[in-house]
Amino acid sequence: MSPARRIAVIGAGAAGLCAARNILSKPHFTPVVYEGTNHVGGTWFFTEQTGKDEYGIPIHSSMYKNLRTNLPKQVMAFPDFPFNKSLPSFIKHTDVLNYLESYCDEYKLRNHIEFSTLVEKVEPLEPDNRFTKWEVTTYHVSTKQTSRNIFDGVMVCNGHFSVPRVPDIEGMSDFQGRLLHSHEYRSPQDFENRTVVILGAKSSGTDIALDLAPHSTKVVMSHKGSQFKSELPSNVEERPVPLRFTQTGVDFVDGTHIECDVFMFCTGYKYTFPFLGNLVSVDNNRITPLYKHLINIKYPTLSLIGVCCIICPFPQFHCQVNYAISLMDGSAKLLSEEEMLEDEKQDFQARIESGLPPRHAHLMGHRQWDYNNDLADLGGNERITDNVRLLYDLCHRRRTFNLMLYKNDEYDLSGAGNFYKVD
Ligand SMILES: Cc1cc2nc3c(=O)[nH]c(=O)nc-3n(C[C@H](O)[C@H](O)[C@H](O)COP(=O)(O)OP(=O)(O)OC[C@H]3O[C@@H](n4cnc5c(N)ncnc54)[C@H](O)[C@@H]3O)c2cc1C
Ligand SMILES: *[C@@H]1O[C@H](CO)[C@@H](O)[C@H](O)[C@H]1NC(C)=O
Ligand SMILES: *[C@@H]1O[C@H](CO)[C@@H](O)[C@H](O)[C@H]1NC(C)=O
Repeated sequence: MSPARRIAVIGAGAAGLCAARNILSKPHFTPVVYEGTNHVGGTWFFTEQTGKDEYGIPIHSSMYKNLRTNLPKQVMAFPDFPFNKSLPSFIKHTDVLNYLESYCDEYKLRNHIEFSTLVEKVEPLEPDNRFTKWEVTTYHVSTKQTSRNIFDGVMVCNGHFSVPRVPDIEGMSDFQGRLLHSHEYRSPQDFENRTVVILGAKSSGTDIALDLAPHSTKVVMSHKGSQFKSELPSNVEERPVPLRFTQTGVDFVDGTHIECDVFMFCTGYKYTFPFLGNLVSVDNNRITPLYKHLINIKYPTLSLIGVCCIICPFPQFHCQVNYAISLMDGSAKLLSEEEMLEDEKQDFQARIESGLPPRHAHLMGHRQWDYNNDLADLGGNERITDNVRLLYDLCHRRRTFNLMLYKNDEYDLSGAGNFYKVD
């Protein structure tokens, strides 16, 4: 019988809870979850606070007051833990937090979480050993005590929607209105009777524009994509990207100008792993060396859960966590360092050849289904059902053509092998 294996899990958001739950389900494995805040749920924990908390630590959550999910609960759920039947398909952020808390209670995860404990450093004990043990250094935010503990594996679940990415735009420092990033957005009441320019029209940019519209005088969505195919509120308009700021507004690249009170960056976030030192590097939004966007190639007992974007997050976390565990318990075949490097290289090249820019190294979208299946098959674990993909695709089309109403749709995935939409 193999000795107990202790796995450090960094973060108690959806990914970290999923890691803890699945580690606990394996004989001889135990998790220790380190969570910097005093609660579970990660970004689903709404707080009015922005900037820094009482310990001087940057606020992690990017949640805003009126957020309803942009995916239906049926495709958001972990495959082994459905949302409450009585909830509508598109739910409030508080419902998601409740769900994660129930998951935590159902699988008795709380005893395994060390709250208010920030991971400061993760280091291999034997740098030349592929199966090295790990030393994890933590810092308790209120007692200020530092601790070191030894683990057999580490799962990094620190999220990647917390550190804003802000492009440099000419004249930005001259602008006298309010500049903010969507990370600090909380409520449309703060923008009553304002003209707001939003840069970026991905999920946050469009969702915030619709949230602001009933309150603001005018909302301008500035973006470089193609024009929206959906009707928009009458006070929301599209413009191309900014050329420069003036003191009181923005000049756009098409030569037009707008006077505005607020400019909001919905320009995404950066990957940061300050505690990993040079175990990984992040270059132009690409994290290396990672096999399957997940496994550290030099040290396969170190994994990064949840780095992909444009996905159904919870189902993918489930696939990733279980594959990483299968490698650690020996039920999945571990490739050599060279084989994994080759796979990483080919994955990246295939993306470039298909026309993706290098900064989309971890973008999934339609690629997520084969990827999830691949992980399930490699680890000998169950696949995510096809219904999740079918419903995801259906919602995507609904959203494209009816941005204002798609969240009112109700779906039902409970039928055996089929699903339908109830109008
Ligand atoms: C505004 C917004 C809307 C979204 N809407 C949806 C949606 O509708 N549907 C959907 O499925 N997904 C949505 N997402 C995606 C969401 O990020 C995922 O659903 C999921 O919550 C990510 O979980 P995570 O555990 O990877 O990260 P997080 O939830 O960010 O959790 C990471 C945790 O790690 C902790 N942590 C970080 N660093 C350290 C450290 N050094 N030491 C200790 N602890 C640390 C943090 O405190 C945090 O608790 C949305 C995201 C945002 C920002
Ligand atoms: C589901 O929600 C209903 C209504 O809020 C509640 O009464 C019920 O207890 C919930 N069920 C579970 C399993 O949590
Ligand atoms: C916004 O404008 C309306 C109509 O002019 C006015 O009634 C309201 O008080 C204004 N709200 C704020 C917060 O200025």
